[in-house]
Amino acid sequence: MKAKLWCLAAGLLLVVALLVPPGSATAASTRYEAEAAPAVCTGTIDANHTGYTGTGFCNGDNAVGAAVQFTVDAAVAGTATLDIRYANGTTTARPADVFVNGVRAQSVPLDGTGAWTTWLTSTVTVPVTTGANLVRLSPTTANGLPNVDRLDVTAPGPSPSPCAPPSASPTSAPPRVTVWLAGDSTVAEPSSGTTCPVGWGNQFAQYFNGNVTVRNSAVGGRSIQTWLYDPNVTGTKNSAGECVVSPQTYSARWQAMLDPTNGMKAGDYLFIQFGINDSTSACPRHVGSARYQQLLGVMASAAKARGARPVFLTPAAAITCSGGTAVGNRGFIAETNAAASANGVPVIDLHRLSYTLYNSLGFCPFNGDYGAGPVGAFFCNDHTHFETAGARQIAGVVARALRDQQIPLASYLR
Ligand code: GCU
Ligand code: CA
Repeated sequence: MKAKLWCLAAGLLLVVALLVPPGSATAASTRYEAEAAPAVCTGTIDANHTGYTGTGFCNGDNAVGAAVQFTVDAAVAGTATLDIRYANGTTTARPADVFVNGVRAQSVPLDGTGAWTTWLTSTVTVPVTTGANLVRLSPTTANGLPNVDRLDVTAPGPSPSPCAPPSASPTSAPPRVTVWLAGDSTVAEPSSGTTCPVGWGNQFAQYFNGNVTVRNSAVGGRSIQTWLYDPNVTGTKNSAGECVVSPQTYSARWQAMLDPTNGMKAGDYLFIQFGINDSTSACPRHVGSARYQQLLGVMASAAKARGARPVFLTPAAAITCSGGTAVGNRGFIAETNAAASANGVPVIDLHRLSYTLYNSLGFCPFNGDYGAGPVGAFFCNDHTHFETAGARQIAGVVARALRDQQIPLASYLR
């Protein structure tokens, strides 16, 4: 009976739709104000320049990391049109990347609008998934974002087959997934009988429910290339400055992940975090910028070919204090982001998240004594490696990033 009434209503709607003259039908758009939760503004909500809608606008901090983030709903997956309303009272463009669920989807120039009270709209189209999507405008220059008023979103609607009765939702249990980890000592399992170092991969499983298995194949001392090709990376550089790999046979650990029976399968995840040992100038560890990106691409493609989902991580920061502030100290950040864009892979910026954690834990200034105090309890006897307590906190940061960036694995978090 319900289905019949629904059919009747749909039929009436169809008649109404047919009566509307062609060309005048516009898809409904939804307005998301930058000053209203769940939007997040890294800066202040201001109202001192007229012309905005709602109760104000996001005046982001003038810095690269200062983003504004909207939670955008889509009934079905597809392409959404985003109208970004902003004012830039300077004569310099304030370009931004548009991330959707952690993946860079677009960039927008956000040119000067002539005055802080002149609001203009910039339009981009981006892919969205069914349900809530995190849309983040992330400035690419130190000027930060312009003032952002709102986002108007035209999202794809449900497909027009309304007369089929709503299908009963399947009651089957969520599929079990394996999270495969590839990385260095900051990720790896401790060697047997030792308490230091402990990589965060060792502490990751506790954040998930019982449907997740973590397979930690990170190995201390490895660059992305030695991890992939052990023991075949030689001590010799070629003319391009890269370590010669001979023979070009993959390591047993990577072959195990590629194994059609026991390796990565559809729905699994592959987390990849290197970039610490890679910065060594000598072979076999050395990896150049282009090669690093290429190898991330190789690993991502292999995972995708098996239906698994790659996630890139920037390297965990060591503890370096600049006075009272913990600061970044790792390379391969730009390379990781570039490879992520090129391959459509989400990035967890563990480098930034880790030194942000060190700041929130008050690690700086630091007197250099790894045997005492909060830094001593977190790190082994050096600035890079974690004790179990530190590893647990870093794993927690990665787990939180899954949720913040709406990486679908987050649905398995406890
Ligand atoms: C001015 C303006 C702000 C703006 C800022 C900026 O201070 O009043 O609204 O955000 O410039 O340059 O970002
Ligand atoms: Ca500003």
